[in-house]
Amino acid sequence: MAQNNFPGNDLSFPLNKLPNKSNSYLRLNTICPYFTMFPLDYPFEVLKYAKSNDKVLDPFCGRGTTNFAARLRGLSSVGIDASPIASAIAISKFTNTTPEQIISLCQEILTDSDKPENVPEGPFWTLCYHSSTLNQICKLRESFSEECNTDTSIALRALTLGILHGPLGKTVDSYLSNQMPRTYASKPNYSVKYWEERGLLPKNIDLLEVVKRRAKYSLSSLPPYVDGGILKEDSRNPIKNSSLPLEEFDWVITSPPYYNMNTYIPDQWIRNWFLGGNDKVEYSYSKQVSHSSKKKFSSELAKVWKSVADICNPNANLMIRFGSLPSSPCNPSELLEESLEEANCGWEINNIKSAGTAENGRRQSEQCVKNLGKAIEEIDLHAILR
Ligand SMILES: C[S@@+](CC[C@H](N)C(=O)[O-])C[C@H]1O[C@@H](n2cnc3c(N)ncnc32)[C@H](O)[C@@H]1O
Repeated sequence: MAQNNFPGNDLSFPLNKLPNKSNSYLRLNTICPYFTMFPLDYPFEVLKYAKSNDKVLDPFCGRGTTNFAARLRGLSSVGIDASPIASAIAISKFTNTTPEQIISLCQEILTDSDKPENVPEGPFWTLCYHSSTLNQICKLRESFSEECNTDTSIALRALTLGILHGPLGKTVDSYLSNQMPRTYASKPNYSVKYWEERGLLPKNIDLLEVVKRRAKYSLSSLPPYVDGGILKEDSRNPIKNSSLPLEEFDWVITSPPYYNMNTYIPDQWIRNWFLGGNDKVEYSYSKQVSHSSKKKFSSELAKVWKSVADICNPNANLMIRFGSLPSSPCNPSELLEESLEEANCGWEINNIKSAGTAENGRRQSEQCVKNLGKAIEEIDLHAILR
């Protein structure tokens, strides 16, 4: 286990209670922001009822919040997400490494004398990154596309995803790009116009310096290692044949995409490029659940509840946080009830509660900075596998 170097952080694991949000043991969870992530205290609170050998599953794991909550509770977990960005961030929640190892790996990759083979060109790339910073990013990108399977490389990759874009620093540089949001990447034409109108040119930012700061911040204290992992898969398909032990889950804690929230890849297009994708925005990604109509969407969720039931123990608990986008309003309870009924595989609804409103700040959609409009209440559904 990594050493705890911070005074006042002598926590005993597994945790029974979440420490203050700024506690260094929680920082790995914020290594990279993710769209519509739910707050850590939701899965953490649910898991207070878990027994020490219980296994946890999240079939729409996003950045791996459920997996990190399970780790804090000392429980083994598996996460599944169809998005390469989500799975690259989520897998970092299992890593056991140190800031020194991360910095040394980053140094090693950057000092390699080979030039990167592919450096994207065009007005967007010239204005988004200084040429020297872009070269460093491309070196990491190419190194990870060859190999990224050690804890240190997985953590460095997630950390780099988290610093790829964000606001310009006033005193210290925390992000590598010209001015940009940190949660999502704005589209090329919009960005170029924005930078040109304001005369914003990219700064020469040393990637290694930013990595050093961020690694020391995010990875100095890590909770003890637990078993499990992440699958980059489509949860609608039967979840089988994997290197991970996909059976006998006791807890499923998840949050499906909200109806018509289908821009996970286009909104993360720079992170998608860094992970080996196209250097242009990719608008179609077939592995995400379909949003073509409410009926179709509900049927797609039904497939997931069915494939999940097949790998759960009897009496397993299914906890779903769900809501709707103001631009595509729907009744979240009705939609979930319909999808569980269609799945017809033993999930019996125990209760549906409000997850909170804008006033108490617990809603998932608030975690994402993009303009989602006026808030609609979210719900927490609890079902048991009979
Ligand atoms: C609301 S987000 C989950 C956020 C997560 N609770 C967190 O805290 O980060 C929904 C996720 O579902 C994923 N997703 C959509 N369709 C999927 C599918 N067919 N199989 C697996 N994951 C899918 C999206 O990529 C997205 O990451």
